Amino acid sequence: MSLNPKQINIISVLPKMFAALNYGVLGRALEANLLTISCWDPRGHTANKHRNIDDKPYGGGPGMVMMVEPLRKTLQQIQKQAKKPNWVIYLSPQGQPLHQRHLAALGAKLETHCLTFLCGRYEGIDERVIEGFVDEEYSIGDYVLSGGEFAAMVMIDALARLIPGVLGDPLSAEQDSFCRGLLEYPQYTRPENDQGLQVPQVLLSGDHQAIARWRSEMALKRTVERRPDLLNSAVLTEEEKKTLARLLAAGDTPQSGLD
Ligand code: ADE
Repeated sequence: MSLNPKQINIISVLPKMFAALNYGVLGRALEANLLTISCWDPRGHTANKHRNIDDKPYGGGPGMVMMVEPLRKTLQQIQKQAKKPNWVIYLSPQGQPLHQRHLAALGAKLETHCLTFLCGRYEGIDERVIEGFVDEEYSIGDYVLSGGEFAAMVMIDALARLIPGVLGDPLSAEQDSFCRGLLEYPQYTRPENDQGLQVPQVLLSGDHQAIARWRSEMALKRTVERRPDLLNSAVLTEEEKKTLARLLAAGDTPQSGLD
């Protein structure tokens, strides 16, 4: 039982969607009290009898916009009960593109703050909420979702993996793709031979140095082939730099996106 569980709040008109967070790694983190997640529905703070939280956009145009008051009151309610200062994240396609380095920074922020994910629906939220209350705005990709809920779940899942104790083996998070800016090497498990497809011999050799070299080369090769743009900011050891130079000189890998 953790004495200092990390606190996450979610503001959404569809709180039931977040039931998905009760499963897998996140579910275990919640059970172990490493993390608490509270959902807040702004419909509880509507001033009108129909409990509307949205209205037509000024200036015309399609769709509806979420109003300031229910969101402001929800944020104030969260702040009142919070044990730590609140850091508010709004999910939208206009936000900065989410990257692993942002998640690392937010993971550190969870030590001293609670994070509140604000999920928009419809055509978005009144800009005055963003100006007045939002600390950071993130997009999870250049496509439009029907609301911020799935984006919030993506961020919370990726964040939870970085909380100490959440992953059984802390090396898992360190070896993740993007941790050092490279894609991951391929993985294999039993059987050694499946319908004629053999596991690479080096992985069966018991030679740990040879395995580490092979994995490093495969990670580089994949990154060169699939995401050469990542190599511009990857943190490479001297050994990896040599391997990369050799791979590129061999010429069997595309070089687009490289400086
Ligand atoms: N809401 C709608 N689309 C989104 C996206 N791509 N990222 C984050 N939030 C969103």
